[in-house]
Amino acid sequence: MDPMDGGMRYTPGRSDKDWDQGVTFLPASDNKKLEKKRGPARVRVIVGLVILAAVLALIVGVLVWHFHFRKDLNLQKIYTGSLRITNQAFVNEYENPDSAEFQDLAKQVSSQLKLMYSESPLLTKYYVGSRVQAFSEGSVIAYYESDFTVPVGQAAAVDQAVSDLTNTYSSTKSRRIANQGVLIFDHVVTSVLDTRLFSNARTNTRFSQHTRGTAEEIIKSPGFPDSPYPPNSVVQWQLRGDQGFALKLSFDTFNLEQNCANDFVRVYDSLVPMDKFLLAEKCGYYSPSDPLTFISTRNVMLVTLVTNDNGNYPGFRARVSQIKRDELPCGGTLTGSSGNFQSPNFPNYYSPNTTCQWNIEVPAGKFIKLKFPKFMVSTESCADYVQIAGKSKLCGQLATNYMVTGNSSKMTVVFYSDSSYVDRGFSATYEAYEPTDPCPEMYQCENKRCVKPTMRCDGWNDCGDSSDEKKCQCDSSMIQCKNSFCKPMFFLCDGVNDCGDGTDEINCGCKTGEFKCSNDQCISEKMKCDGNRDCTDGSDEEGCSREMSCTVSTFTCNNNKCITKNNPQCDGQDDCGDGSDESNCNCGKKAFKSSRVVGGEDAVVGEFPWQVSLHIKNMAHVCGASIISERWLVTAAHCVQDDKIKYSQPSTWEAYLGLHTQKDKQTATKRFLKQIIPHPSYNPYTYDNDIALMELDSAVTYSDTIRPICLPSGTDVYNSSDSVIITGWGATREGGSGAIVLQKARVRIINGTTCDKLMSGQITSRMMCAGVLTGGVDACQGDSGGPLAYLSSERMYLAGVVSWGDGCARKNKPGIYTNVPKFRGWIKEKTGV
Ligand code: ARG
Repeated sequence: MDPMDGGMRYTPGRSDKDWDQGVTFLPASDNKKLEKKRGPARVRVIVGLVILAAVLALIVGVLVWHFHFRKDLNLQKIYTGSLRITNQAFVNEYENPDSAEFQDLAKQVSSQLKLMYSESPLLTKYYVGSRVQAFSEGSVIAYYESDFTVPVGQAAAVDQAVSDLTNTYSSTKSRRIANQGVLIFDHVVTSVLDTRLFSNARTNTRFSQHTRGTAEEIIKSPGFPDSPYPPNSVVQWQLRGDQGFALKLSFDTFNLEQNCANDFVRVYDSLVPMDKFLLAEKCGYYSPSDPLTFISTRNVMLVTLVTNDNGNYPGFRARVSQIKRDELPCGGTLTGSSGNFQSPNFPNYYSPNTTCQWNIEVPAGKFIKLKFPKFMVSTESCADYVQIAGKSKLCGQLATNYMVTGNSSKMTVVFYSDSSYVDRGFSATYEAYEPTDPCPEMYQCENKRCVKPTMRCDGWNDCGDSSDEKKCQCDSSMIQCKNSFCKPMFFLCDGVNDCGDGTDEINCGCKTGEFKCSNDQCISEKMKCDGNRDCTDGSDEEGCSREMSCTVSTFTCNNNKCITKNNPQCDGQDDCGDGSDESNCNCGKKAFKSSRVVGGEDAVVGEFPWQVSLHIKNMAHVCGASIISERWLVTAAHCVQDDKIKYSQPSTWEAYLGLHTQKDKQTATKRFLKQIIPHPSYNPYTYDNDIALMELDSAVTYSDTIRPICLPSGTDVYNSSDSVIITGWGATREGGSGAIVLQKARVRIINGTTCDKLMSGQITSRMMCAGVLTGGVDACQGDSGGPLAYLSSERMYLAGVVSWGDGCARKNKPGIYTNVPKFRGWIKEKTGV
């Protein structure tokens, strides 16, 4: 724009006008004056020259701008593709790009690609050239890259034209392009190459390897295991096997940055990176006990490692071997009254382009029941699926032991996978049942599932449709709800309608001489205002004379008064009389009014401004934390325990404040740490006292996206069923990798006694449980240290710190959190907050 504006100022029109004015106002008769004005004539020449120079400069400027700018407006677009040549036979020399045979065929392929693109006038305009990258058997498959230089505005049209054109050559009907050239080819497939795979900012390395016979080859990321993989690199491994074999790639170590937007490994069922043949993109850590193994369709595979400028991890090591795909069990006839089967390669990733059909036949007269102990079939719109008895397709991740019942002695099960995105697959068991007794020795739910008889009327919805909890005759240890549900006794009079019809909350009044607490608990009248919190919610000490001796369970005002009321801080009432319970209330509120956690959803920017992402310096997110003041964070002690990495050292860490997506770390506020104070009584075996404090090296300024969460007072208690919010960038499924965008999920506080039973006696009073007992919603790996927030008087309080769990989001396995009110005094002592 600037050169253009400059040009406008020098338009000849304007200059001429100035010149004309000079001429018009010269008195022609006055020679003397004319004589005297000989000076202006010279000036005119000079001005004329200046203007000429300016015009020339303008023209040059416009030309330079034009060509320079035009260049910027063009995009380099690379399409990767493959095609099958049907009238050539593969020779071994085709494996070697330097051989004359390779180069000769490559030249022919390139010229035929040029012919193909010339069928589209649009592509002809922008086509630059093609490079053949490799050949493989079948008859001959050519893998290539085609370059285009495309004006920005035309990018989408060119994508469309490439895809339309290649579609006409994608069928199995072999064609000779435009009836020219000697090669006949079909199966043309192209994809746009991800710009990260050809960015000039990254160094490119390529390895080729042929695994033969029963040999096992090893590939590893550069530097492995002695040094981390290099930054800003694209490394490709073109893997081949012998004709007729498929390749099996098993990662025995896999440790990359958590965030796939930074560093990732991709495995392709091809020799060039094509999305259509992308089997998986992986990052983060996979333990050797949960290895990643992939199987190709044919005798080729491509592995790519892409890294960015920071966060470099140890990398990977993988074994490559050959297998015969038809030797992998896939389908067949299954007879007998029970048995099992699984997707090929289970529990490892099934191969692409697979169809297996199992025909199950149980003794005549019996029906079939099918159960899936594990089911993970790539979710993308059921592109891969399991179809039972020709009915609807199952895909995605199904609940453990998902069950399907049939109504005949035969059943067909089909498993189908397409050319991309594979998953771990499934294991299945089948069983014959008497049509008259579908759940031998079990209880049959209305949805036909069978559950253990002990699960009937136990207060938990085990069937999934609550049918195991209907029409119950409860024993004396249970509440008999009017609607015939039974509920555990601890739900009685807890202020929550657990029965659904209010039965557990009626008649909760107290006897004479008893005081009824706000949570409907009854205590002796004498206990009211005795300075002890006898009601678990402390309501027996509310509204009493405030001047009594302070106990651990009271809030101490600056004027040394003690407040026994629950959550007296920042509730808008001056309980202390000196306002000290209402000072420092700039916490727990988000700036905006707005409407992995497993089972969560994306948070809104600024919704949880106290959430911090703790990174190992220059690496990736490891734990969460919460801002409690301009200088202090609260996290979990287990996040700061040394192992191979010195997690206890402040210099190990960097804290990102005001972060929303892990991709935007550059724009977040980064702080280093001055000190880390783990709780002195933290027990690494039991996770008791799992809390730590972190002091930032310099104070932060609060903003819309950076604010503190309120700390609860030492007296705060949370009742079971209270709703709380957990947030974090942790895994979004058990064993999965971390979230990119901050996740939030709502869970409920779970009664400590119940929780202790569910967690086999591992819960201490410094812990607190929250979750959804039917499963599906929970914190998970990577959420640790982050907040469990409780809303009170329109402010969020740090009720808990994500600590541990048994797996993630499992049924009857709540998440375990550090009980922050228990550490209120310690936090005050160490931080002054
Ligand atoms: N310890 C885990 C971490 O380091 C947090 C686990 C929380 N698990 C759960 N199921 N709630 O990130």
